[in-house]
Amino acid sequence: MRPEGAYEVLARSQELEAKGHHIVHLEIGEPDFNAPANVSLAGIRAIANEQTRYVPPAGVTKLREAIAEASGKKRGISIDPRQVLVSPGAKPAMLFPILTLVEPGDEVVYPNPGFPAYEAILLIAGGVPRPVPLLESRAFSFDLNAFDKLVNDRTRIIILNSPSNPTGGVIPLEDLQHIAEAARRYDCWVMSDEIYTQLVFDGKSAPSIASLPGMAERTIIVDGFSKTYAMTGWRLGYGIMPEALADRVRLFFTHAFGCTAQASQIAAIEALTGPQDHIGMMVEQYERRREVVVDGLNKLPGVHCLKPQGAFYAFPNIQGTGKTSQEIANLFLDYGVAVLPGNAFGKYGEGYVRLSYATSIPNIQKALERMDKALRSIS
Ligand SMILES: Cc1ncc(COP(=O)(O)O)c(C=O)c1O
Repeated sequence: MRPEGAYEVLARSQELEAKGHHIVHLEIGEPDFNAPANVSLAGIRAIANEQTRYVPPAGVTKLREAIAEASGKKRGISIDPRQVLVSPGAKPAMLFPILTLVEPGDEVVYPNPGFPAYEAILLIAGGVPRPVPLLESRAFSFDLNAFDKLVNDRTRIIILNSPSNPTGGVIPLEDLQHIAEAARRYDCWVMSDEIYTQLVFDGKSAPSIASLPGMAERTIIVDGFSKTYAMTGWRLGYGIMPEALADRVRLFFTHAFGCTAQASQIAAIEALTGPQDHIGMMVEQYERRREVVVDGLNKLPGVHCLKPQGAFYAFPNIQGTGKTSQEIANLFLDYGVAVLPGNAFGKYGEGYVRLSYATSIPNIQKALERMDKALRSIS
């Protein structure tokens, strides 16, 4: 396994800060908002009330019910609470279903550039990696010709992520239909990482493959509270899958981590059942920042950037600079801006860098000025 690029760059930039350098952090994918106050208070109250005990491995019933209700409504499908497994962050909701389903030699299809955990996890399970390139010319959706060649009757799981980390792309419905058709033809599973599904811009929404005919029974939806409710450190995620699979995965949960923190789960119930207006507020802020980032990046020499449709990442193409992703990331860091090289997300990310714009507009403007100076120093 390789380390995750975001943590590596964070460590390097913190070293520079310790030496007195000022760094604008655009490397970590973490909302800069606080969790809504009612949610934090529910968690604090739970701790004060000693709701800090072991609870069932699959999650507390009330939370599973609230997730089934909210997730079903959002995706237009019916979800039984028994299909929901609550986990400490979304990552275990990927790891354990993959360990349950993938036997050594099974093939796993996944996006590249993509969230690094997918490849790491499938390799742990002994799976064979089948990365599908995302194409800038298709607004960072799958290269469907490559997909058609990579998926076959040895494919066990197709992993999707929409909106995407690192590109901000949203998979259009027609592509989901194409992918669903292949999943049905080859009788394979789909793991749909929808952790950014509430962070979609321009009044649009990201369709879920689970809503398509015949797909709920072969789809594992991965979602969580880290991004939508700015609760990264509460470690709260979940998987939604057919009940028979959930029954198997629950055993992994039992023996791997026991359960998810009770107080976090109580805060999560409040997050789902309390007011939702902060989501619209965050989306509006991200939209404003997206304008500043994309306009600024498109003015930099050798850089062009598509407008992301969701999440809070921009994925500018830096090929016009004549440098590699790593060289550009190093150069920007020398000038006080931490970004991630696109190849930290897989080989097809070469030629790009990833910026997280989950930070203030003044910070973004400072970063753009510094990046401009950095690129002018080499042109
Ligand atoms: C696409 C994607 N999936 C999953 C996660 C993990 O979320 P969590 O912090 O809830 O484990 C992240 C976090 O950055 C992500 O970007």
